[in-house]
Amino acid sequence: MGLTLLAAQPSHAADTPDPAAGRTIAESGVLTGHVGCSACHLMNGAGQPDVGIPRLAGFSAAYIAQQLDFFASDKRSNSWMAPYARMLTPRQMQDVAAYYAALPEPPPAENDPAGDALRARGKEVFQKGDMAHGVMPCGGCHGPAGQGMGAFAPHLAGQSAPYLLEQLRQWHQGKDRDPMGKMMVTETHAMADADMQAVAAYVQSLPAPNAGGTK
Ligand code: HEC
Ligand code: HEC
Repeated sequence: MGLTLLAAQPSHAADTPDPAAGRTIAESGVLTGHVGCSACHLMNGAGQPDVGIPRLAGFSAAYIAQQLDFFASDKRSNSWMAPYARMLTPRQMQDVAAYYAALPEPPPAENDPAGDALRARGKEVFQKGDMAHGVMPCGGCHGPAGQGMGAFAPHLAGQSAPYLLEQLRQWHQGKDRDPMGKMMVTETHAMADADMQAVAAYVQSLPAPNAGGTK
């Protein structure tokens, strides 16, 4: 009996993602001669909005781990991410996802007043959709504050506008992106490019709904 218990304990601990191990992966990677995730996504998970590198802080661990799996298996094709995702074991994916998911969200990028009208249109689309073009309110799936809905729909608030726009345009062109992307293909099918730009600008300006990294 005692032996069974002893044997069960380490295997339970081994199943629990370890954010401290994930921090090391973010900092210095898993293979010598290759950078860690932070070289692009930064240690605080803010990403680099200007060059379209997405922020990771604010996502659920489930979403991060799932996307890493998609990149590694070419279900989501991206030449930047594929090599880094392939370096990770499934366990390391869970660990690094746990690290980034626990971070508090950085404040959104500063708003340029010149973009006020664009963001106002984006807010309208986000909250009310555009029924004439089959566009449902984004908040209906991504949460009214863009906070995401668990493993179903990812967190959007504060995300890099260039990155958001690139994703929307690829779906608009009919590309699934990954096995979860069908809904977004339908959503963006008849969306005008100006509206995709507007909603991306609005979403980038949304403050952290999960301040403190809890969700
Ligand atoms: C050389 C730069 C670079 C490195 C290093 C890098 N990434 Fe990325 N990552 C990117 C880029 C660029 C994208 C956007 C891909 C796209 O446009 O589809 C991305 C996308 C992602 C996404 C998808 C985000 C979303 O919004 O769907 C996740 C998750 C991710 N990276 C996690 C990681 C993790 C974890 C590591 C370390 C193991 C890492 N990345 C290392 C550049 C990098
Ligand atoms: C019916 C539900 C639904 C609606 C409505 C919806 N989405 Fe999504 N969205 C999803 C799902 C599910 C995913 C995950 C797709 C994947 O992993 O490929 C997603 C993913 C995304 C992503 C990718 C996030 C990332 O980090 O890579 C963006 C950007 C996005 N949606 C924006 C929007 C916008 C903007 C609207 C409104 C115009 C919208 N969505 C409306 C369900 C929805």
